[in-house]
Amino acid sequence: MIEHDVVIVGGGLAGSRAAVEIARIDPNLRIAVVAKTHPIRSHSVAAQGGIAATLKNVDSADNWEAHAFDTVKGSDYLADQDAVEILTREAPDVVIDLEHMGVLFSRLSDGRIAQRAFGGHSHNRTCYAADKTGHAILHELVNNLRRYGVTIYDEWYVMRLILEEGQAKGLVMHRLRDGQVQVVRAKAVMFATGGYGRVYNTTSNDYASTGDGLAMTAIAGLPLEDMEFVQFHPTGLYPVGVLISEAVRGEGAYLVNSEGDRFMSAYAPSRMELAPRDITSRAITREIRAGRGIHDNGSAGGAFVYLDLRHMGKEKIMSRVPFCWEEAHRLVGIDAVHQPIPVRPTVHYSMGGIPVNTDGQVRSGVDGLVESFFAAGETACVSVHGANRLGSNSLLECVVYGRRTGRTIAQYVQTRKLPEIDEAAYLTQAHQTLQSLLDQSGTYRINEIRQAFQDCMTDYCGVFRNESLMQEGLEKLHQIQQQAQQIYLDDKGKVWNSEVVEALELRSLLIVGEVILTSALHRQESRGAHCREDYPDRDDTTALRHTMAYYSPAGIDLRYRPVTITLFQPQERKY
Ligand code: FUM
Repeated sequence: MIEHDVVIVGGGLAGSRAAVEIARIDPNLRIAVVAKTHPIRSHSVAAQGGIAATLKNVDSADNWEAHAFDTVKGSDYLADQDAVEILTREAPDVVIDLEHMGVLFSRLSDGRIAQRAFGGHSHNRTCYAADKTGHAILHELVNNLRRYGVTIYDEWYVMRLILEEGQAKGLVMHRLRDGQVQVVRAKAVMFATGGYGRVYNTTSNDYASTGDGLAMTAIAGLPLEDMEFVQFHPTGLYPVGVLISEAVRGEGAYLVNSEGDRFMSAYAPSRMELAPRDITSRAITREIRAGRGIHDNGSAGGAFVYLDLRHMGKEKIMSRVPFCWEEAHRLVGIDAVHQPIPVRPTVHYSMGGIPVNTDGQVRSGVDGLVESFFAAGETACVSVHGANRLGSNSLLECVVYGRRTGRTIAQYVQTRKLPEIDEAAYLTQAHQTLQSLLDQSGTYRINEIRQAFQDCMTDYCGVFRNESLMQEGLEKLHQIQQQAQQIYLDDKGKVWNSEVVEALELRSLLIVGEVILTSALHRQESRGAHCREDYPDRDDTTALRHTMAYYSPAGIDLRYRPVTITLFQPQERKY
């Protein structure tokens, strides 16, 4: 059996930042990072627009209180305000720390870190490295993993969280290269496994974003919080769905409909294209529904709107958002210096996740904590984003809460012993799971089921929702779950059998999708990204609360947790 003091699942920003913090505090601890890709290929590397922090390099009137207010208002008052206070107070410090690690931020002419406008932020506070900010930060963090001697298990797929008597004891993991299975025990287990964009058929997320950490947590009997809140980024490149950064609008681009109108004036007159994402995504969808979308006659992909950069000029486009120019050029043949970019909303981010307290300890329910289990980043819900996240607050959450969780773990393990685990039992079970996938002689290819599922989630639990639609969606999802019992694999081998991983990922996707749909069906109000056509108003009297969803194969049980309100009383949200 493999042993470490700490095992972190996920090599992206939150996991790497936590590992670095643990190693800084106690270099003698044996820390491991396990990831199904190489850490440099974690989805954090694709983050583009920036990281928010009130450095005041561009706007001296900015302060953490304004950042906190913008975040809480953006969250439609569902965020836990103690967590938001920590996020926004610690932001300048974590960004300076990244700079000291060597992150190549873009600069002002006097050498200080540049800051740009972003949606829902009242000041120019988003620090950036052109439009490749995640790339710049992740590379330095992963360099630091090596510098501190963190053991990296890359291209290992974690199949199971070992949780016994309310304590996380370790993991069962499977090596893609040769099918080897190992049990790992540790004094602390941390999940930083990212999001689940692949639950939907159009997403800015990479192929690995299949919600595995969420599903393993749910299978272990622990709750998932606020999973109904799915963020649609307004500007996915049409038709592929990859991200065209909000930084493009932060630098001045316009959203335009088929009539040539900057339609955001009708939806958020004071913020225009820099309204929060929930409002902007709904505006685009409404324009398309009203017949003011643009159609590409050669494509069956439906309608879109234009993101127009042309007035920004070549020099600004190429220096501030070169990657977005390149994506549009490479993927759909658009030269954004001379042509508008076709865009429409794409699934981007999970506001919900594994419930944690502000030290990164996983909650066992409405009250109580799980021993030895921690989480941070997109997979966690400390709830700083509530019902809608502001752009550039997610990289910030990863580093603030990655660092805090790392600190907590470094202290926590000092007094803990390695847990006892019946290794043989877990190995036998894992081998049986893998063998039965290989032996299964079903009738469906994995891809068929995954596509049907993604279409179901997109059609029945998208930007706009209502009861009958979601009921129908759940029925369809249950049929798809039945069909998923009858998949077959072509590859029966052990070496680089990516079909096995796809089958395990399908299990994750189906569980996460069911939790999202069920949580959404039972939230009978509209708040942030959760927009119910049958309940169009926010309901602070009965629904200002966090959903806690407990999965079991027999169904999902919902409970609720109060929202922490310390700084700002809920008020009407207008832009
Ligand atoms: O649009 C973007 O660059 C995305 C940023 C974010 O999600 O924070």
